[in-house]
Amino acid sequence: MTATLATASAGVPLLDLRRQYNSIREEVLAAITRVCDSQGYILGPEVEALEREIASLTGAVAAVGCASGTEALWLALVAAGVQPGDSVITTAFSFFASASAIVRAGATPILMDVDPGTLNLDTELVRKRIIEGRPANLRAILPVHLYGQCADMDAFARIGEEFGVAIVEDAAQAIGAEWCGRGAGSLGATAAFSFYPTKNLSAYGDAGIVTTMDPGMAERMRRLRNHGSPRRYYHDEFGWNGRMDAIQAAVLRVKLGHLANWNRSRQQHAALYDRLLAEAGVIATSPTMDSPVQLLARSQEATHVFHQYVIRAKRRDELRAFLAERKIGSEIYYPLPLHLQPVFSYLGLKTGDLPIAEQAAKDVVALPMFAELSEAEIRRVVRGIAEFYS
Ligand SMILES: Cc1ncc(COP(=O)(O)O)c(C=O)c1O
Repeated sequence: MTATLATASAGVPLLDLRRQYNSIREEVLAAITRVCDSQGYILGPEVEALEREIASLTGAVAAVGCASGTEALWLALVAAGVQPGDSVITTAFSFFASASAIVRAGATPILMDVDPGTLNLDTELVRKRIIEGRPANLRAILPVHLYGQCADMDAFARIGEEFGVAIVEDAAQAIGAEWCGRGAGSLGATAAFSFYPTKNLSAYGDAGIVTTMDPGMAERMRRLRNHGSPRRYYHDEFGWNGRMDAIQAAVLRVKLGHLANWNRSRQQHAALYDRLLAEAGVIATSPTMDSPVQLLARSQEATHVFHQYVIRAKRRDELRAFLAERKIGSEIYYPLPLHLQPVFSYLGLKTGDLPIAEQAAKDVVALPMFAELSEAEIRRVVRGIAEFYS
């Protein structure tokens, strides 16, 4: 989770937030000043405006601002009907919060393997699992739109309908992404977004938002993020403090105006990486060819927003050390699948049970990716990779 926030003078940073800040400094400081002048710091008009704007961007009926992406996941699960004693299917190849939010809702995560091409939750495996041995009290499926590319949401919608389970999107990495022209955040019952500082749309601290297609669920989430309270000092159920603060909302509203351009730049960078890696001869140009680097599959139906540009690399750790010597940043998302995390040992899964996720953990590597990255920097990264394999 810790970003490489190096300045760009030497090498190529994995992420350089300073460049974005420099480009919006006046706008964003004016927005923060507006909140300070108002002296209204929690929820209020800035948060409400952001909620309307995010609902409109995603195509959801409503959005509810909250304290983090993790909080958003909990709200999304509870609003979709997940209760203590339930189970929820999710991917073993994601950030910890995808599964820990299920535990916090009192449910059991059913961790499953991923599609070998996209590394998103494998729809066929999920369907088979439900048919062959439906987990007790299965209430929801939580696909994660990994690295900014939507999971197969048509298949999940069909599974949800066929088996009577809610689909909840973990869209933490996918603001602005689409599936068949429909926005991430409008593809399930509820969806969670993170505005952690490294995300495509990022706050100056922690923040998140949950979207829904159901106005009733939106109302419930508004209460839950504020101590289960429909009006001050009256409480209908147990929620707690999961509110968004107004300074974060004001910063996010400024950035939201730039998001489409920033996501477009990320897509252009990804296309350049694809092309240069092919030209360097390190990726296969035919299915039978062996190559040191593999790209992830891109779903035709998905508009990918490249929160991360991830390749699969032979001798991955040596490659990373080689790039680091040249001051080129890289990161592994994620080095240990969730079913092998010590805290999930109670689920009874062991090494070998989810082989695709386990292999991915050994060979994925994220390369520098942010809107302000330059063509020269991308060329430098690819040169480094080509040199390593030459
Ligand atoms: C897939 C995924 N889910 C959930 C989260 C949790 O978001 P946050 O860090 O804002 O709590 C993140 C962010 O790191 C994430 O990448």
